[in-house]
Amino acid sequence: MSSPRDSILVTGGAGFIGSNFILCWIEATGAPVINLDLLTYAGNPANLSSLDGDARYQLVRGDICDPELVGSLLREHQPRAIVHFAAESHVDRSIASPEAFIRTNVQGTFVLLEQARTYWSQLDQAGQSAFRFLHVSTDEVYGSLGKDDPAFSETTAYAPNSPYAASKAASDHLARAYFHTWGFPVLTTNCSNNYGPFQFPEKLIPLMILNALEGKPLPVYGDGKNVRDWLFVEDHCSAIRAVLERGRVGETYNIGGNSERANIDVVTSICDLVDELRPQSGTPPRSNLITYVADRPGHDRRYAIDASKIARELEWKPAQQFESGLRRTVRWYLDHAAWIDSVRTGAYREWIAKNYTERS
Ligand code: NAD
Ligand code: DAU
Repeated sequence: MSSPRDSILVTGGAGFIGSNFILCWIEATGAPVINLDLLTYAGNPANLSSLDGDARYQLVRGDICDPELVGSLLREHQPRAIVHFAAESHVDRSIASPEAFIRTNVQGTFVLLEQARTYWSQLDQAGQSAFRFLHVSTDEVYGSLGKDDPAFSETTAYAPNSPYAASKAASDHLARAYFHTWGFPVLTTNCSNNYGPFQFPEKLIPLMILNALEGKPLPVYGDGKNVRDWLFVEDHCSAIRAVLERGRVGETYNIGGNSERANIDVVTSICDLVDELRPQSGTPPRSNLITYVADRPGHDRRYAIDASKIARELEWKPAQQFESGLRRTVRWYLDHAAWIDSVRTGAYREWIAKNYTERS
């Protein structure tokens, strides 16, 4: 087979981070993207409606667990890289029903790696050297930190605590093994909590924005003091581009926002922003809606990322501060009522009822 073309194959590109990545990628590089996405509850083709009719973008609805489909897409499009986002991504769902997480995150990553390795092994020398498989992973593989522990670095031992984190850890190990065994050019990124436009409103920030807007209770798990390190999604996208362009194959890169916040502080900031941007005279501040509910089983206390390796080697750093990024995000949800209506289907309402009725 000859050298690959200019295109890339993105998996899970109709989800939150994947759709932001495709929009940023086409704007930054102009190069074509094939998006392989099963369109589960979390996948929304409308996130990419601004690319309707654009010859540089093609959506293929399909499953990363399907080896024939993955193999035929690689042979047909001959991409120069695969950026692998597709996953089951919500920790609470992995506690309620772990099976889908093992299937997509472990089996699906295995199928992709295996098909990609076959495709790569048939490229010419130049094609093989240029090809990259970028495996998008999470900081949750490292487990939980105490208050004064140093942040996760690339050499922190894996200690996943939820079925979601364990499935992502397994996929990271497979990716590592494909590099170690065959020299298959894998890069892995482990990123902290993302927020921004198009995030499905099962996750903390969009859920709280929508509940605050609608005057519903704001369900804070446990004592609200669990800490996450927040990164604006476009900064994650620029980090992935940097790793794809300049990262050393076989390496892992931690990506984070240097923005550790306790959940209760994030929720309070959201309340203040909604009060400011959608004032309601004569009603109490939205922070009165905060309701402490039963904790997530096995809830990791703190995540923090040491992003010094990617800063040093690839000269990447986040562009967005948490406060300005959160303001942009709240504004985005206020301005996109139709998008919100389109994602809050019956299945979504069932999940919200199940998760929060059991906690109250
Ligand atoms: P998401 O749940 O919003 O999107 C996942 C996408 O994958 C959806 O479009 C879904 O339809 C698709 N998908 C699911 N199963 C599939 C299958 N079998 N075949 C093909 N497509 C399938 O997830 P996200 O928040 O955008 O996360 C994307 C990736 O980034 C995941 O791998 C996640 O582990 C990782 N990550 C997420 C965060 C975060 O804060 N959201 C942080 C670090 C890493
Ligand atoms: O750290 C990266 C990870 O961040 C990603 O790998 C995951 O895909 C992503 O979902 C996210 O996981 P978290 O579990 O940290 O995100 P979530 O938005 O579900 O929760 C953030 C924090 O808020 C967590 O401590 C749990 C808490 N929480 C969450 C919800 C949904 C609440 O207190 N109330 C809620 O209703």
